[in-house]
Amino acid sequence: MKAIVLIGGFGTRLRPITYSVPKQLIPIAGKPMLYHVLDLLPDDVEEVVLATGYKADAIEAYVRTHPGRWPIRTVPEATPLGTAGGMRNAGAGMSDPFYLLNSDVIAAADLGALAALHARRGGAGTISLFEVDDPSPYGVVSFGDDDRIAGFVEKPPAAEAPSRWINAGLSIWRRDVLDRIPTGREVSFEKEIVPGLLAEGVYGFRLSRYWDDAGTPDRLLHAQQLLFDDGRGGKGGVPPGARGTGPVAAMAGATARGASFGPYVTLGPGAVVEPGAHVERSVLMDDVVVEREATVVGSLLGPKVRVRAGHRVQGQVLGEGVEA
Ligand code: GTP
Repeated sequence: MKAIVLIGGFGTRLRPITYSVPKQLIPIAGKPMLYHVLDLLPDDVEEVVLATGYKADAIEAYVRTHPGRWPIRTVPEATPLGTAGGMRNAGAGMSDPFYLLNSDVIAAADLGALAALHARRGGAGTISLFEVDDPSPYGVVSFGDDDRIAGFVEKPPAAEAPSRWINAGLSIWRRDVLDRIPTGREVSFEKEIVPGLLAEGVYGFRLSRYWDDAGTPDRLLHAQQLLFDDGRGGKGGVPPGARGTGPVAAMAGATARGASFGPYVTLGPGAVVEPGAHVERSVLMDDVVVEREATVVGSLLGPKVRVRAGHRVQGQVLGEGVEA
């Protein structure tokens, strides 16, 4: 089987970081969120096709230097084609069926079991689902018999949501679904294509352990916590010469001698946390410097951000090169 990964969005909710870095390359729990999504794919996947758009060159350069367990190919869009348009654009030579993954969902999901369920039930596709308290920002399903999906509504007002089960962004589809997607314009898979497929049978695959969409700063930091708590953030602890609880995932060349840490921190490549500084529940991207006696809590710091000595940064998202 092959997989299409949708990775062409603008990541507007993570601006200003995403002005310079595509969302999917932001590291959480020690590696770019894209790679946590790819980790879910079974070993026997033949090829991963990334449907790119915004900052396609940065993604292409990164995957070329960081190969996965399977061949990875990128297929860029000249203009945004929407989720379905991106699928169709990247879909030449797809397997039948094929996986379709969003590139920003952090979940515990057995995609081999998803494929087995799809093979057993047939139909046009099988969508993994997760139950949330407030489904209104998501695509929400209503159920027929035996977890067959009877209806699908995008971002309903909370009072009108037919259930609390949402599209978790990890699904599998019959190849001919790609042929139904009009070309030459932006097309939303969820709004324009999936409703028309329900009559042919679209089934739900319920996830139970954890899921989050790492598309906003708060949820990205929550997703990072989920990954660490599930042991997907490396060895835990704190970097050499530092103290505190951690877990901290320190990427290549990051240093933090004499610094202290609370839980759930990623130090991007080359990040420096100076002696006496303290960091917790945060992501520090490439070459960030946190100077002596500074504090960073609950924040997302873009590449080359500098937090000056003694300053405190809390609950902030700072774009590339900012001095705080
Ligand atoms: P926001 O701008 O913050 O809403 O983020 P986003 O652009 O990523 O949008 P959203 O989270 O709704 O997108 C869901 C998935 O589809 C993500 O993995 C996106 O990268 C991807 N995506 C969204 N629009 C397009 C598109 O036009 N083309 C392609 N190839 N992928 C897309």
